[in-house]
Amino acid sequence: MSKNKIALVTGGSRGLGKDMAINIAKKGIDVIITYHSNTKAAEAVIAEVESLGQSCEAFQLDSSNTSQFDEFFNKVSSYLKSEKGTDRFDFLINNAGTGLYELISETSEDQLDAMYNIHFKSVYFLTQKAIPFMNNGGRIINISSGLVRYSFPTASAYACMKGAVEVFTRYLAKELAPRKIAVNTVAPGAIATDFGGGENKTNTKKIEFISGSTALGRMGQPDDIGGVVAFLCTEDAKWVNGQRIEVTGGMLL
Ligand SMILES: NC(=O)c1ccc[n+]([C@@H]2O[C@H](COP(=O)([O-])OP(=O)(O)OC[C@H]3O[C@@H](n4cnc5c(N)ncnc54)[C@H](OP(=O)(O)O)[C@@H]3O)[C@@H](O)[C@H]2O)c1
Repeated sequence: MSKNKIALVTGGSRGLGKDMAINIAKKGIDVIITYHSNTKAAEAVIAEVESLGQSCEAFQLDSSNTSQFDEFFNKVSSYLKSEKGTDRFDFLINNAGTGLYELISETSEDQLDAMYNIHFKSVYFLTQKAIPFMNNGGRIINISSGLVRYSFPTASAYACMKGAVEVFTRYLAKELAPRKIAVNTVAPGAIATDFGGGENKTNTKKIEFISGSTALGRMGQPDDIGGVVAFLCTEDAKWVNGQRIEVTGGMLL
């Protein structure tokens, strides 16, 4: 048995996932992250988590390729057995993803399929394959988007998949109840990361618009989100289940 609880954060190498990994570690939880191609960024997160006194391991995963998932969990369970004396972990955070800004009139089938694969199919089957490796009483946190509640042109394909993730969250909460696994959605607003080409960091017009539509008056930052996800991994959040928690600074209230 591992002495610490263990969280698996997909897309933990950069942006929101990196901040989640760090804040989860601050709660005394060990971390496993996945990354797609940025090995250096993943190594930096390992070093940062280890400096906080928790263990961290990174695995490469293309979450749009479900055929990799069995092999991925083989590797995770071998790591857990050898390093932790268990093949189980406690918290799954489905975070990895990429952006698409395209009008409905311009969106191709390939683009829609890509959004479906990375934002919904992958979350569905990664979760399905993760469940046998999760301890009873664990938690699943699915990352959605404020764009499910409010609508902006060019976000349709992306936002529809996040909408599906929110419905999936409620079904998971029902079906995993016998194992006392709580499942919630965290829906961030616009956050200044590399997402969608990094325009939330660089597009001054968009930054002004977002700041003006947000009660707290600014663009979101990665460290606005990780602490909320970490909280959902604590005992204090044990009665939160099947919920959508929007973390936008009060956008378009
Ligand atoms: N930023 C926002 O404004 C915002 C708002 C609401 C919701 N979200 C959601 O938050 C999540 C994280 O976004 P972010 O802003 O942190 O993005 P980000 O900074 O671009 O980071 C994306 C992360 O996902 C990984 N990734 C990319 N493609 C992948 C693939 N095919 N398979 C597996 N992993 C992959 C990346 O790994 P590498 O480092 O190896 O590339 C990286 O760790 C996404 O689900 C996004 O939809 C973001």
